Amino acid sequence: MTENLTWHPHQITPDERRANKGHGAAVLWFTGLSGSGKSTIANALEQKLHQAGVHSYLLDGDNVRHGLNRDLGFSDDDRVENLRRVSEVAALMADAGLVVLTAFISPFRSERDAVRQRLPEGQFIEVFIDTPLAECERRDPKGLYQKARAGTIRQFTGIDSKYQAPEQPDVHLRADQLTPEQCAERLLAALRERGVIG
Ligand code: PPS
Repeated sequence: MTENLTWHPHQITPDERRANKGHGAAVLWFTGLSGSGKSTIANALEQKLHQAGVHSYLLDGDNVRHGLNRDLGFSDDDRVENLRRVSEVAALMADAGLVVLTAFISPFRSERDAVRQRLPEGQFIEVFIDTPLAECERRDPKGLYQKARAGTIRQFTGIDSKYQAPEQPDVHLRADQLTPEQCAERLLAALRERGVIG
């Protein structure tokens, strides 16, 4: 499909973008079950980044599925395509010099690995929001687990669709034992350790 296309290199280098913005680029790729706290923690982190003058953007599953990915459902194939498109958007945003936060269930290890490969070396930071299924189901903020148990929603992650937990995430947060604030602080520290922010 790309045989008659020509890649146009940018005139502005990543280093120039970094100097202009005052920080590096990265993609914090959150993964975790529905109700695990991905969006809450990502929002808490984004507020801190914003306050610190860091240029960031949060891509959230529910939101992206209202627009760019409104044609996709929750079959395995659709989840793969969902994450492929999101990874391309995240890569463009990181190329523009942003700190990108993505909050998608991202249930498949192979797809998360594909995103790591897609991004420049070191830019992908896998963040495991590790809240056990029983706790997610207890919270059930959108009532979706109840519907999944009743069989009115099919292919629900953790119930009748698989979730493959990361084996070696870059950041592992037991989000049922930490507050969103504490999780956000750990992520800020991870960005500092990697030299993304000062
Ligand atoms: S995925 O697996 O990464 O493609 O999913 P994602 O794009 O993050 O969308 C997850 C949100 O969609 C709602 N929802 C479902 N989740 C899982 N399985 C099924 N079948 C489903 N149907 C709807 C749900 O609100 C998810 O949001 P979060 O924030 O994760 O709870």
